Amino acid sequence: MSIVRHHERLETSVLLLVVGIILTVIIGGIVEIVPLFTIASTIEKVDGVRPYTPLELAGRDIYVREGCYACHSQMIRPFRDELERYGHYSLAAESMYDHPFQWGSKRTGPDLARVGGKYSHEWHRRHLINPRSVVPESVMPGYPHLMRDLDYHDIDAHLRTLSHLRVPYDGLEGAIEHAREDLEAQADPTADKTDLKARYPKVATGDFDGVPDRITEMDALVAYLQMLGTLVDFTTFDPARAGAVR
Ligand code: HEC
Repeated sequence: MSIVRHHERLETSVLLLVVGIILTVIIGGIVEIVPLFTIASTIEKVDGVRPYTPLELAGRDIYVREGCYACHSQMIRPFRDELERYGHYSLAAESMYDHPFQWGSKRTGPDLARVGGKYSHEWHRRHLINPRSVVPESVMPGYPHLMRDLDYHDIDAHLRTLSHLRVPYDGLEGAIEHAREDLEAQADPTADKTDLKARYPKVATGDFDGVPDRITEMDALVAYLQMLGTLVDFTTFDPARAGAVR
């Protein structure tokens, strides 16, 4: 065949080889990427997905800082064993406001994509301080230092930065200006939560760390864990009817 006959010329000429490689990569890239523009469900628009509350966002930063992703993924794959263990497979929309996403590829511990609401705030606090106090065979490290005060003096700037990345905090009336109040209201059992709940539906509130008069890093991290996977109502979710995000 002629292609085989000319192959030696291609392989021995640097210029031809480079041109050949570039052409192959371009064609491969087009084949992979172009269909994504035409599939309406690449990222479905799903009811219930909302930006993180300021406290959840602070908790998410602690999750990243402490390297929890080194042992925990946040992506349930569409395989039967995963669905039976963790629940509905993860939707792209569920991490659309994540910068950066926490999908992960390593599971020394279980997937956390739907851990929200699975345990009480107190369970999480005890588990994070010393995992073996609630799961005797656990190999997870303890994080007792999270009982220190949370530093949230720049939380409004954090929301503003994310809004530049198209997380729609601008669209939630007063979210950026009242970020500090919202953060405090979520962790303070006595605070008025009307505004917080209006901006962030389904928000879990309360005293997350067992110390009502302080806002600690533990409050933030537990608030974050308690919302994971809770936003979409999978009793009514229908993948065939989810529309595309534009
Ligand atoms: C060295 C690996 C490792 C690291 C790092 C780690 N974990 Fe774990 N985690 C585990 C293992 C193993 C388990 C299962 C045993 C248990 O429940 O303690 C677990 C369990 C959990 C559970 C309970 C999940 C369930 O469905 O029962 C939560 C919540 C959790 N980890 C949160 C965290 C957070 C938050 C961090 C970071 C502050 C973290 N983990 C860091 C290994 C790790």
